Amino acid sequence: MGRTQQRRREYMMGKALIICASVSHGNTRRVAEVMGEVLGAPVMEPEEVHGLADYDLVGFGSGIFLQKFHPRLREFVSSLPRQQARAFVFATSGLPAPRLGPMVRLLEDKGFEVTDRFSCRGFDTWAPFKPVGGIRKGRPDDTDLAAARAFTEKLKRRA
Ligand SMILES: Cc1cc2nc3c(=O)[nH]c(=O)nc-3n(C[C@H](O)[C@H](O)[C@H](O)COP(=O)(O)O)c2cc1C
Repeated sequence: MGRTQQRRREYMMGKALIICASVSHGNTRRVAEVMGEVLGAPVMEPEEVHGLADYDLVGFGSGIFLQKFHPRLREFVSSLPRQQARAFVFATSGLPAPRLGPMVRLLEDKGFEVTDRFSCRGFDTWAPFKPVGGIRKGRPDDTDLAAARAFTEKLKRRA
């Protein structure tokens, strides 16, 4: 893509931001960095974000802990005033099919239009799995990160 075309696309899409709490092994952060690269968006910790008024598209991600997004991310979203922006959610988890719906609803309650969701497995050393050295070692792997890239490129094309 040429420079002018790239600028036009960035303008059409508006500004994007990724907010990620990745506390366990940095699994979700690795996914977030790929997404940020595709969108030309910074990746920030919830506590680094002071207002979302400048952003048209915001990604929210964390690992899954006891079937929920990380409390730091949930508390951040709960504390937000009502917004008008497009959003997507993403997670890494030890087990398949994490429940992303509650975070989607929390964001929708704040006025976000949540258009997309992504998840993949992540290395998991939750207590029951510690004796066996954890599960999903090496995840997210290259295939997971390629899937995250494809997901974000598709999302960007629809901007
Ligand atoms: C205390 C604890 C609880 C967890 N609970 C779940 C869970 O309920 N479901 C699941 O699929 N994975 C669970 N996991 C695994 C994490 O979701 C997984 O390791 C994730 O990739 C961590 O992301 P992070 O490195 O970005 O923090 C848990 C991990 C820990 C340490």
